[in-house]
Amino acid sequence: MMGESSPYTSWLEINLNAIQNNVRQFKRLTNKAVMAVLKANAYGHGVTGVARAVAEAGADWCAVARLEEALALRKKGINLPILVLGYTQVECIPAAIEHDISLAVFDAAVTQQYLEKIQQHGGRLKVHVKIDTGMGRLGLFPQEGLDFISWLQQQPGIEVEGLFTHFARADEPALITTPQQIKLFKELVQRLEAANRRPRWVHACNSAGVFNYPEAYFDMVRPGISLYGLNPSAETQIPSDFSPALTWKTRLVSVKNYPPGYGISYSHIYTTSANERIGVIAIGYADNYRRTNGNIALVAGKRVNVVGRVCMDQSMVQLDRLPEARVGDEVVLIGHQADAFISADEVAAIWKTANYEVVANLADRLPRIYV
Ligand SMILES: Cc1ncc(COP(=O)(O)O)c(C=O)c1O
Repeated sequence: MMGESSPYTSWLEINLNAIQNNVRQFKRLTNKAVMAVLKANAYGHGVTGVARAVAEAGADWCAVARLEEALALRKKGINLPILVLGYTQVECIPAAIEHDISLAVFDAAVTQQYLEKIQQHGGRLKVHVKIDTGMGRLGLFPQEGLDFISWLQQQPGIEVEGLFTHFARADEPALITTPQQIKLFKELVQRLEAANRRPRWVHACNSAGVFNYPEAYFDMVRPGISLYGLNPSAETQIPSDFSPALTWKTRLVSVKNYPPGYGISYSHIYTTSANERIGVIAIGYADNYRRTNGNIALVAGKRVNVVGRVCMDQSMVQLDRLPEARVGDEVVLIGHQADAFISADEVAAIWKTANYEVVANLADRLPRIYV
């Protein structure tokens, strides 16, 4: 079995072929440029390997949340065009120019500061103007877009290469919210076209937008979650030709038989009710395995309960049904083992959150092994 030779006690196996397939599926589905969203360490999947893989699979752009993430990618030799989706401090403008990183702009006063910085330092900054069509987060209002872009296009030292917006509820296709956002954005694009001021790259769709709103593809789509083969939500699931890329593995590091009435782990929230076989797995809340009840794991291809308090580096599993389980055996927390499967969605449901949070929080100390 893959990973049996792994020296690690807890690690993530990332199937880069799956991610490359998902990039190609997005290209096939949309017939547009694809901006791969690689923020937060590629949604926990390990950004360097993922960035190389998506570039090889034909992604046209990538996006990150912060300038530091973009600079780290440049340092690793990634030469795809990169857009920083979030806010950038004015003192970082020379670095953005030097490393050819495009920035989001969404505030006239901040943009004025950028212009002053560019005047001092020289060079030319590439920007994408962000419009708030109903996300209620970053962005100029649609009615401000034409005047702002017309002004910005006349400023020396700035190239307005893109225009974008972001959907708040694209994963809920029964609602009117996203069509309303699309309408506002399209009207702005039309006003810009009429004034001959439309930027080269107009983009709006996240993963759910791609699946539910083909009328909003514009020049490029901007998927994150489903690039990794994960569902945007229960209502918006990936098509069958997308596949998940991540398997979260750990190992049994101890197996013992306990007598009845033995308290297991901190606070003894679990006590053996009979002779019980209990294993220890090398995963804990410091790996961002949630310190909650109801976790499950796969051992020897079967689902087992995690019992007792999750500790910082270890947790306990109930192994009565698995007399064959041995120290060193692989344990799966997300992914397949033989015929059994735990999805990121299932873990998210146990943790009362979204699959996004589950994967984005996977701790840095878990090695990412590309398979
Ligand atoms: C501005 C922006 N675009 C695109 C994405 C990708 O969205 P998703 O992961 O839902 O595909 C995100 C992620 O939150 C985002 O913030």
